Amino acid sequence: MSKTRIAFIGAGNMASSLIGGLLAKGFDAAQIRASDPGADTRAKVAAEHGIDVFAENEKAVQDADVIVIAVKPQAMKAVCQDLRPHLQPKQLVVSIAAGINASSLLEWLGTQQPLVRCMPNTPALLGKGVSGLFATQQVTQAQRALADELLSAVGVVVWVEQEAQIDAVTAVSGSGPAYFFLLIEAMTNAGVKLGLSHDVAEKLAEHTALGAACMAVDSDADAAELRRRVTSPAGTTEAAIKSFQASGFEATVEKALSAAAHRSAELAEQLGQ
Ligand SMILES: NC(=O)c1ccc[n+]([C@@H]2O[C@H](COP(=O)([O-])OP(=O)(O)OC[C@H]3O[C@@H](n4cnc5c(N)ncnc54)[C@H](OP(=O)(O)O)[C@@H]3O)[C@@H](O)[C@H]2O)c1
Repeated sequence: MSKTRIAFIGAGNMASSLIGGLLAKGFDAAQIRASDPGADTRAKVAAEHGIDVFAENEKAVQDADVIVIAVKPQAMKAVCQDLRPHLQPKQLVVSIAAGINASSLLEWLGTQQPLVRCMPNTPALLGKGVSGLFATQQVTQAQRALADELLSAVGVVVWVEQEAQIDAVTAVSGSGPAYFFLLIEAMTNAGVKLGLSHDVAEKLAEHTALGAACMAVDSDADAAELRRRVTSPAGTTEAAIKSFQASGFEATVEKALSAAAHRSAELAEQLGQ
């Protein structure tokens, strides 16, 4: 277990999930502190996790090895600029804010600050997330390992070597939970049209998504092979898959993810001003 000191700036949903995940992994509450302007938020996080909390961000970052900035994207510029005079060159800053480029963050924090930019997703709130991480040049191997350990507290971690790939991560996993919600919704409604009650159709759709995801993650075979294995010639699954494909399912998915990646780049441009 690492003895790293971690400061969270912003103690909302994501910070609380990360803190809970770190404690569950064996981190000591004394290694973690957080700052937040909300007295109620501070009281809640302190009571839930037993960590020190501060109203002032500069108090939280003192002597921290890693500073996780977990405020809304719109608050990032002011928070980074206010922190800048209080940062030490060796402190790793981890940003989990959606849509803010490393170049903007470094402009606000100081260009030499080691920085890891992360794109987590909502299931991280249940410890079932997947995050895409990008490290800037100043980040050491040890700091990379720390960022990996940190985000692993709420799920699976992947690294990308080019920052532009974060837009693709956003398109696949950042926005991805909503695609599965849409599919669950559509399958539930279709089940109702086929004669099931809403509750039964929803339970079937939700647990089918969960079971299929578990099989895909656990199996050595890829999704295409798993699909072939459950698709008997001239059977019911084949009838459905043929219907999906005749309606251009793959092209629809590709187009949707391109739209998300494009919007991610556009938002980064706007939020980085
Ligand atoms: N939730 C997710 O599933 C998810 C997924 C991917 C990425 N993210 C990213 O994670 C970040 C945090 O999201 P969240 O859902 O945890 O938001 P959240 O629950 O609103 O938490 C943000 C916290 O930061 C506080 N804050 C505001 N200004 C601050 C300041 N100047 N200094 C310190 N703290 C300040 C907020 O206080 P007030 O409420 O009083 O303003 C709030 O308690 C966002 O940038 C988001 O893009 C979240």
